[in-house]
Amino acid sequence: MKALILCGGKGTRLRPLTHTMAKQLIPVANKPIIQIVIEQVRDAGISDIGIVISPETGEQVRKAIGNGARWDATINYILQNEPGGLAHAVKSARLFLEDYPFLMFLGDNLIQGGVSQSVKDFNNSSNEAMIHLKEVANPCQFGVAVLGDNKQVVRLIEKPAEPPSNLAMVGIYLFRPAIHSAIDRIKPSWRGELEITDAIQAMIESGNPVEAKILEGWWLDTGKKDDILEANRVVLDEYTRPVCNGQVDQNSRVVGRVAIGSGSKVVNSVIRGPAVIGENVMIEDSFIGPYTALGNKSVLENVSIEHSVVLNNCFLKDVERIEDSLIGNNTRVSRVMDQRKAVRIFLGDDSEVLI
Ligand code: TTP
Repeated sequence: MKALILCGGKGTRLRPLTHTMAKQLIPVANKPIIQIVIEQVRDAGISDIGIVISPETGEQVRKAIGNGARWDATINYILQNEPGGLAHAVKSARLFLEDYPFLMFLGDNLIQGGVSQSVKDFNNSSNEAMIHLKEVANPCQFGVAVLGDNKQVVRLIEKPAEPPSNLAMVGIYLFRPAIHSAIDRIKPSWRGELEITDAIQAMIESGNPVEAKILEGWWLDTGKKDDILEANRVVLDEYTRPVCNGQVDQNSRVVGRVAIGSGSKVVNSVIRGPAVIGENVMIEDSFIGPYTALGNKSVLENVSIEHSVVLNNCFLKDVERIEDSLIGNNTRVSRVMDQRKAVRIFLGDDSEVLI
């Protein structure tokens, strides 16, 4: 079996970060999301991996992930020349996939417990496809499935106004080669994309059995800022182990599960886990609250921050309370000690500031 990880797309909902980086490279708990995906693919025993990349961010993904040797896997990069939809991404990867069965994993989706059991079950079944579903409170925002007997999928509907079930489609699929001819039969949707939902529906209509697996654990689709923060919270909660490779002075307190990277220094500060501090971070006179991930080489002075993700090389100073924030690389946030209560900002396109 092969795996196809989708790392193309536009990432418009995560601007401004996605002006300069692929959204799949945004870290949660200091690890790029795609890296967690690759680990889950490897844990399922698949070592022949294709990553679909876009012309805009492909080089960056290639540079960050490499040839797969560090996971004992082979990674091929497949250029999707435009963000033509998930089924278009599969079409772009046709040569790589040959007629192998394959696991398709959206590079911005995370699920609890990985995909090993699904891969095993699919290998033992004769179904042409397996999709993953999760019960959600707001099904009209997702692709929704109607199931018949034996968890066979009867119908799929994209963002229904009146959802026939609360089972949303997760971005993880298993296919046998019948998917390719189904993709050849579908037309672009109203948004101009070749939709994987339409291709699976076409498979069902031509009599190919499609099976559903309903997820019990968490599912995170990290398409928007608050989703990244939620993913960061969940992943920190589940995986953080206390470890200190840096220095914490006697006036500081580290409480709960906190990982501190090498070269980092904590002076006269409190860190309350779960939290992860990268390498060469300087924290002074500050409070780092739960569910915070600080990347590498940042400086925090007299700052209070919680439930936030800070990427690399940032400078935060004299800010009383930062929360629910996602802060990109090389960002400076500081208070000016000034009589006038002015706010001075220098922001890139599509930024958001809540004061
Ligand atoms: P989406 O989040 O649906 O789309 P997007 O990445 O373009 O983001 P936005 O809606 O904010 O503009 O994509 C889901 C995943 O699939 C994501 O990892 C990107 C990937 N993808 C491709 O690889 N090719 C595509 O043509 C599309 C649409 C998405």
